[in-house]
Amino acid sequence: MASSSSKPTHILYVGAGAVGCFYASRCHHPSANIHVSLICRSNYNAIAQSGVRLETRAFGNYTFHPHAVYPSISAAADDPNAPADGWDYVVVTTKALPDITDDAQQIAPLIKSDKTCIVLIQNGVGVEEAHRARFPRNPIVSAVTVISAEQIRPGVIRQNRWTRISLGGYSTPDKSKSSSDDGSSSLASRSDACARHLAQIMKHHGGIRDAEAHSETDLQLIRWHKLCINGAMNPSSVLCGGRGNADMVRDPELRAHLRACMEEIFHAVPKIFPGRSLDTVGASPDRILTSTERNVGAKPSMLLDWEAGRPLELEVILGNPIRIARRHGVEMPRLQTLFAIKRRQNYV
Ligand SMILES: NC(=O)c1ccc[n+]([C@@H]2O[C@H](COP(=O)([O-])OP(=O)(O)OC[C@H]3O[C@@H](n4cnc5c(N)ncnc54)[C@H](OP(=O)(O)O)[C@@H]3O)[C@@H](O)[C@H]2O)c1
Repeated sequence: MASSSSKPTHILYVGAGAVGCFYASRCHHPSANIHVSLICRSNYNAIAQSGVRLETRAFGNYTFHPHAVYPSISAAADDPNAPADGWDYVVVTTKALPDITDDAQQIAPLIKSDKTCIVLIQNGVGVEEAHRARFPRNPIVSAVTVISAEQIRPGVIRQNRWTRISLGGYSTPDKSKSSSDDGSSSLASRSDACARHLAQIMKHHGGIRDAEAHSETDLQLIRWHKLCINGAMNPSSVLCGGRGNADMVRDPELRAHLRACMEEIFHAVPKIFPGRSLDTVGASPDRILTSTERNVGAKPSMLLDWEAGRPLELEVILGNPIRIARRHGVEMPRLQTLFAIKRRQNYV
């Protein structure tokens, strides 16, 4: 985990889609000895040949030429020119689909030592647990992004708006059960240090002004606050046949439904994080609904996936939150209904 120009920092992104290519391109600074490589899949040929073309609202248009481009995880794991003591950061920017893919198992060949930090830039909650179980001694950074970006052609990424990324260490699924003599406190401090280091790379080298490091609990609260948008809007938009966010909030019945979904999450959070509430983390349900009125034409990512026949991130956006809340003695019946109706989508 180096940042000085004397010792290189090697970062490997797994998933060269919209989010991965955008943040990878902002982290890559060979002159500061920060080298970013990409694992691609369907867009490998385009990126290996020409790099990634970025059309951004925040930073203009530019081409990102990664340090190395790989067609698969195994190609990266087997590369004799890869950093001898492993990558400093392996950043997962695939869609989070634990019902279909075990991301932790997939990236295992890339984690060659306990020093490699695993970074998860994915939506939903509970995405860290499988990685913590498989890699009990590696630092983990959990990251939430507020961005609108898409891959418009293979290797061409358009960032439409926003850049915000919030990062925080992740030590255990339940901090209240950790004790200072089981190594979890040093794991927590190593994970926090990695979160601060990555935020500093993104902010000072990448120019992302709203890249910020947070405490472990604060980061989890940011994840739960983002669920108010994703958990309410994404499945509802699919279930009502493909309506965009602004269209939904202008419909009085749907607006009441969306507000009630968000209020369930606001109500559950103090039971899951005693002494904490979402009131201090971000906008209230009413403010979210009002600001969504202006977001005309925007479609939630789940709707885009549904329209394209791709699997939906239902488990991390609905299943995990419902199960975590239930473990803490609270039901979220509206979200549970959305989940119950939609959950078989990924298997048909
Ligand atoms: N896009 C946004 O505006 C946005 C905003 C906030 C949060 N997010 C979240 O950020 C995460 C990433 O979203 P995204 O929009 O960037 O998704 P995306 O554009 O679909 O990118 C995911 C990429 O991962 C690749 N991939 C999947 N499995 C792989 C594997 N085993 N090996 C190599 N590559 C693999 C996919 O390759 P293929 O093309 O071959 O499938 C695709 O290029 C999601 O959790 C999403 O909800 C997205």
